[in-house]
Amino acid sequence: EKGGYDHFMLKEIFEQPKTIYDCLRGRLNAEKGSINISGIEDYLDEISNAPRIIIIACGTSWHAGLIAEYIIEETCRIPVEVEYASEFRYRNPIVHKGDMIVAISQSGETADTIVAIEKAKEQGAIIMGIVNVVGSSISRISQTGAYTHAGPEIGVASTKAFTGQLAALMMIAFKIAHHRKTITEERFFHLCEELSFVPEKVERILQMNDEIKAVAETLKDASDTLFLGRGYNFPIALEGALKLKEISYIHAEGYPAAEMKHGPIALVDENLPVIFVATKDVYHEKIISNMQEIKARKGKVIAIINEGDTITPKIADAVIAIPETDEIIAPILNVIPLQLLSYHIGIARGCNVDMPRNLAKSVTVE
Ligand code: F6R
Repeated sequence: EKGGYDHFMLKEIFEQPKTIYDCLRGRLNAEKGSINISGIEDYLDEISNAPRIIIIACGTSWHAGLIAEYIIEETCRIPVEVEYASEFRYRNPIVHKGDMIVAISQSGETADTIVAIEKAKEQGAIIMGIVNVVGSSISRISQTGAYTHAGPEIGVASTKAFTGQLAALMMIAFKIAHHRKTITEERFFHLCEELSFVPEKVERILQMNDEIKAVAETLKDASDTLFLGRGYNFPIALEGALKLKEISYIHAEGYPAAEMKHGPIALVDENLPVIFVATKDVYHEKIISNMQEIKARKGKVIAIINEGDTITPKIADAVIAIPETDEIIAPILNVIPLQLLSYHIGIARGCNVDMPRNLAKSVTVE
């Protein structure tokens, strides 16, 4: 049932070219430059005219929400907030009729997320579910939405469900931006095309497994780690840190790279590996200077970069160079090496990667 892989986690990481393809299939038509998601067509005007979008989720799904916030605000120009379901449900939040609530959940059964959206629905919000498990509670509460089509995820740590969430959220954002005319035809066409190349690029990253395993070997004895990224890659830094802590039990923190100066930099010494998500985007020069600041304090730098980057390898102790895409789509690629890194570090430390201690696949109690 593990299809020849040692663990479900590895199997699910390797399934991603297919699961992402399955999410895009029948919805994205890159040749024509069109996106059609049956679950949202009927609500297109409501979504497009929503005064505000509030994204509600937990854990890894919340990280997908943060990325969606950046993408939706950039492309659709609709204000977005992202909330932890557990906070939202108890804090008497302001919800207006017509607000769009987006619930993101692999299982569709996370207790806090269910209660949060039920509450928002009572207040007149429209609920959009981005869910993996077909027929789950969250999918039933939602009026509109899209399944991620990642197939059953057995490993407790979310991997293929996360990239499925990103693929679905990206399609929805681009579709709405196109509908609202907040991006040009050319930009929309380009984003559709880049999205269609993702499965093949993920495949190429997976072929770097041995190289990533070798980097993991150099990190396995760390007691603490820092993950840094800016912009669309800031949530990927958070996700990289979450994955590492749950899989390997190594203490890991994710931060927006520029925030390190406001505290975390005090931790930096020769024993602290800092993992940068530093693929090419508008922040590239800035993140390189953050890297130099770490090196000046003797920190060890590992960087996820793009192929063809000749500057970063001169600064970092190790780089993992992956294919380039549009900066908006990059997070879906950039998380893959971090998933593999966590897996190999967990295995090297003898951890039960499919079932980390104290964790449950779906958190049905608050
Ligand atoms: C981390 C992980 C959890 C879940 C979270 C939400 O790898 O799997 O953080 O993302 O418990 O679960 P869902 O998406 O089922 O609502």
